[in-house]
Amino acid sequence: MQAVGADAEKTCVNRSFLFVPADSRRKLEKAGSAGADALIVDLEDSVAADARGEARLIAAEYLPGKDKVWVRINPVDSDDALLDLDAVMPSKPAGIVLPKPRSAADVVKLSGHIDVLEQRHGIQAGQTQIIALCTERPEALFTLDSYAGATERLFGLSWGAEDLSAAVGATANRDEQGNWLPLYEMARSFCLLAAAAAEVTALDTVFTDFRDHDGLLRYAARARRDGFSGMLAIHPAQVEAINAAFLPSAAEIERAERIVALFAANPGVGTVGLDGRMIDRPHLVQAQRLLKMLK
Ligand code: COA
Ligand code: MG
Repeated sequence: MQAVGADAEKTCVNRSFLFVPADSRRKLEKAGSAGADALIVDLEDSVAADARGEARLIAAEYLPGKDKVWVRINPVDSDDALLDLDAVMPSKPAGIVLPKPRSAADVVKLSGHIDVLEQRHGIQAGQTQIIALCTERPEALFTLDSYAGATERLFGLSWGAEDLSAAVGATANRDEQGNWLPLYEMARSFCLLAAAAAEVTALDTVFTDFRDHDGLLRYAARARRDGFSGMLAIHPAQVEAINAAFLPSAAEIERAERIVALFAANPGVGTVGLDGRMIDRPHLVQAQRLLKMLK
């Protein structure tokens, strides 16, 4: 049992994505030892406009030779986006995080820019993946079905409440207990549905109260329960709790393996019994999803 859990820890690789502002050499230095499954070097909202030029240079210097380091660029319809891509693509990031897309058309547009830059810099075609922050603009909420089949580069979808609340003019996005207000709960659910429909990874958004450890534990547990496979982080102190929350237990893995094996051993059978319970297709899909998280 223990061995399964230990193996899962090594192979469960897309739980925590830690944001690091690209204008901070100090934070970039510290980020590598935070234990995050991936880093997102940020050129957008955490960097002031007049620091962006320097931030691009720092990002380009930081990236080479590093695995699992993504870059958040500026929105694809901004002039900054192309400058960001020109600066970082020669350093071969694992992928690009796209903020504020209006629909999958913006992701397709980004993919087109990446096509050109991959070719220019001798990067294998299609290697650079994309995560879209799919709920940051009001109009984006009406286009979430567009992500299915949009581009092979799409690795996952995540969502954000801050830009959305600013866009609608709300004074808060959480209630007094810290729970999302209905609009943001809806955006979160739509992100989950859009990711499932597109068959890509769903990542829950950042938990901004980085000193509230118990709050983070509750939030991450709920995200895992609801179907997200990981979440975004803003502080190194959040990483361990996120990694633990999204790591399937040895018992869950073992059960998933048994379900997959049972169906494989009974081809053409729609429903089987396991430990006195009926198991049918949805259970198989669920088991396959869980095992896919370990790849
Ligand atoms: N990545 C790497 N290191 C980080 C970090 C991060 N995201 N956030 C904090 N640290 C480092 C700090 O540099 C500090 O190290 P030091 O004392 O050796 O300099 C240590 O961790 C403790 O930091 P702390 O004092 O608790 O926080 P802070 O006040 O320095 O920073 C934030 C708070 C929110 C500004 C910072 O966590 C941050 O920049 N987060 C990312 C923000 C971001 O990218 N937002 C965009 C997505 S929403
Ligand atoms: Mg933002």
